[in-house]
Amino acid sequence: MKVFVIGASRGLGHEFVAQYLADGAVVCATARSEADLAALKRQGARALTLDVTRAESVARLAWQLDGERFDTIVYCPGIYGPRSRGLEPPTEADFDAVMHTNVLGAMRVLPQLADMLSGETRIAVISSRMGAIGPRSSNAGWLYRASKTALNSVLKDLATEWSGRAVCVSLHPGWVRTDMGGGGADLAVADSVADMRRLIASLTARDNGRFINHDGAAIDW
Ligand SMILES: NC(=O)c1ccc[n+]([C@@H]2O[C@H](COP(=O)([O-])OP(=O)(O)OC[C@H]3O[C@@H](n4cnc5c(N)ncnc54)[C@H](OP(=O)(O)O)[C@@H]3O)[C@@H](O)[C@H]2O)c1
Repeated sequence: MKVFVIGASRGLGHEFVAQYLADGAVVCATARSEADLAALKRQGARALTLDVTRAESVARLAWQLDGERFDTIVYCPGIYGPRSRGLEPPTEADFDAVMHTNVLGAMRVLPQLADMLSGETRIAVISSRMGAIGPRSSNAGWLYRASKTALNSVLKDLATEWSGRAVCVSLHPGWVRTDMGGGGADLAVADSVADMRRLIASLTARDNGRFINHDGAAIDW
C-alpha cells in the first residue's frame, strides 16, 4: 500500500506516518523544517518539503511526485489561531494566517493530487467538528470554526470533481492530546489515528463527500 501524509512533522500527521509504516506501507510524508524532514526519513518515510501557505512550495511538490500513485492520502496541516471566547474580531494577520493555512493551503495542495489517484484512492482531510454548523452550540474559536467550515466546502467540491476516481471524506479526529488539542484533551493521538485508519480502510464509493467522526458516526455539516 502507498500512503501520502501531508503535514506530518508532529501531532496527528506524525502518528499516521508511524502507524502506516508499522503496517508495512510505503509512506511519503511532508514537513517544513529540515529537522522534521530528517526525522521522517529516519523513520523510513520518503520526506518532502511542503509549506502549504507558499505557492512555490506547493508547485515544487507536484513535480517531485510526478508519476506517483497513492492508495491513501491524508491531509493534516492546520493552525487554530486566536483562542477567542466570543465575537472578538480577529486581526487581519490572524485571519490571513488561519485562512491561508487551513483553507487556501488545501485549495492549492489538493488539486495537485489529481494525477496521483489510482481509481480507488481514499482521501481524508482532517477537519473538525468545530466547523460543523448544524450541531454548533459554542462560538469559541470562531475564526478556526469558520476556516474548518470552509475546508469542509473545499472537501465537498473535491468529492464532486473526483467522484468515481477517489473517495474523499472530511474527518473529525476527536479532541486529541496534541500541541493543538492540549494535554487535557479526551483522546490519545495513537487511539484517534488508529480509529481514523480503520475508518479510512473501510470507506467505499458510497462514503464519497461525507463528514465523519473518528469513530465512524456521521456528522451533520
Ligand atoms: N488535536 C485536536 O484535538 C484536533 C481536533 C480537531 C481537528 N484537528 C485538526 O487535525 C489536524 C492536525 O492537528 P494536530 O492536533 O496534529 O495539531 P498540531 O500538533 O498542532 O500539528 C499541526 C500540524 O500542521 C502543520 N502545519 C501548520 N501550518 C503548516 C503549513 N503552513 N504548511 C504545512 N504544514 C503546516 C504543522 O507543521 P509544523 O510542525 O511545521 O508547524 C503540524 O505538522 C489539524 O488540521 C487540526 O485542525 C485537531
